[in-house]
Amino acid sequence: MAPTAPMALSTPLAPAADNPIFAVAARAEALRARGADVITLAAGEPQAATSAVVVEAAVAAVRDPATHHYGPAQGHPELRALVAARLSEDTELPWTEGDIQIALGAKHALFLAAQALIGPGDEVLVAAPGWPGHAEVVTAAGGVPVPVETDHAFRISPDALDRRRTPRTRAVILSSPGNPTGAVHPESRLRGIADWARRHGIWVIGDDIYRAFDHTGTYRSVLRVAPDLRARTIVVGGVSKEHAMTGWRVGWLAAPPEIVASARLHVSRTITHVPTVNQRAALAALNDADTPADAARDYRRRRNLLVEALNAIDGIDCPLPDGGMFAFPDVSDLLGDRGWTSSADLATWLLDTAHLAVVPGEAFNAPGRIRLCFAVDDRTLLTAIDRLRTALGTTPTEATYDIDAPNPEVAR
Ligand SMILES: Cc1ncc(COP(=O)(O)O)c(C=O)c1O
Repeated sequence: MAPTAPMALSTPLAPAADNPIFAVAARAEALRARGADVITLAAGEPQAATSAVVVEAAVAAVRDPATHHYGPAQGHPELRALVAARLSEDTELPWTEGDIQIALGAKHALFLAAQALIGPGDEVLVAAPGWPGHAEVVTAAGGVPVPVETDHAFRISPDALDRRRTPRTRAVILSSPGNPTGAVHPESRLRGIADWARRHGIWVIGDDIYRAFDHTGTYRSVLRVAPDLRARTIVVGGVSKEHAMTGWRVGWLAAPPEIVASARLHVSRTITHVPTVNQRAALAALNDADTPADAARDYRRRRNLLVEALNAIDGIDCPLPDGGMFAFPDVSDLLGDRGWTSSADLATWLLDTAHLAVVPGEAFNAPGRIRLCFAVDDRTLLTAIDRLRTALGTTPTEATYDIDAPNPEVAR
């Protein structure tokens, strides 16, 4: 058999590739291996290392023989109690450790939720643009993800949901703040969505993974706005983004008893439980409110820098995201002007010529946009901005990048 040819670097990123986010990372890695000084705003995770507090807690946990043996499938009771306390604050409802299932990250928690809730052919409404993982867990459960168009601020509305509702509609996944859009659904919008869900007996899966990065102070848990939906709501969270712990794989779901029971059984039958050392690290993280607060402040400043720089480039129109870690500009004018045929094409060009990795919007059901992560350090961000300006040019009014400037007041 002929040997498989290595991936040619001149091949454009295929929008239909398995996961374009990983395709960008693989191409960036291939360029790095050839000696290119590639920097990336493509990652879906904070660039920072996990805090020393958490690392030390993990080291202590490794040394503690109590972590060397099997633990409860539902998760470490102390960690569940902390998650419950935090949810009680967010929702103003009482939660106990029995209401929580610990998972291998929020993605696994979403997977467990879908396995518990979705039957073959059940339809689940997901935001478009949106994070592909939402659709993936629905498909993995035999369900059908149904994209719902978002409004000018990338929020889903009761009307848009109703246009996609059928007798098979089982649930809606509501992620606020969202990825890649940063959209935060304010209280009034959540109330409308909750009314719609209540009226039609539809479950709500709230993915609150970016909850700490709420740059406008408008984040609300859907259950705080509509506590009566508790019997048909699953809330998903985790430490990955808030505490720069994506590699530790700890997340959770909070749900009615039948969902928690199903998730526990699934965990017990597959992974037995989330590794205890990692749960102990997550415990330390949840006791540390400073790290996410500091990160959120830094991200707000970097968001402002990046969005200002992007908007100074002809053909790019970037809204200021209300939350999250990503800028999600419209680059469609740029495409037409310069002859790129898609944002995947542009992303390939930026990577190959400016050695800057970004994710094409095709990954999120949004051709004509690109996603850039601002959860990176100042040096990386400023270098990326320089490369963008050099590669794409700016308007005569130069953006001002004063990295030492105090964080501008955020409009509420
Ligand atoms: C909206 C959203 N939910 C969940 C996840 C997964 O988080 P975790 O790393 O905890 O599995 C991501 C990761 O990118 C995400 O963007």
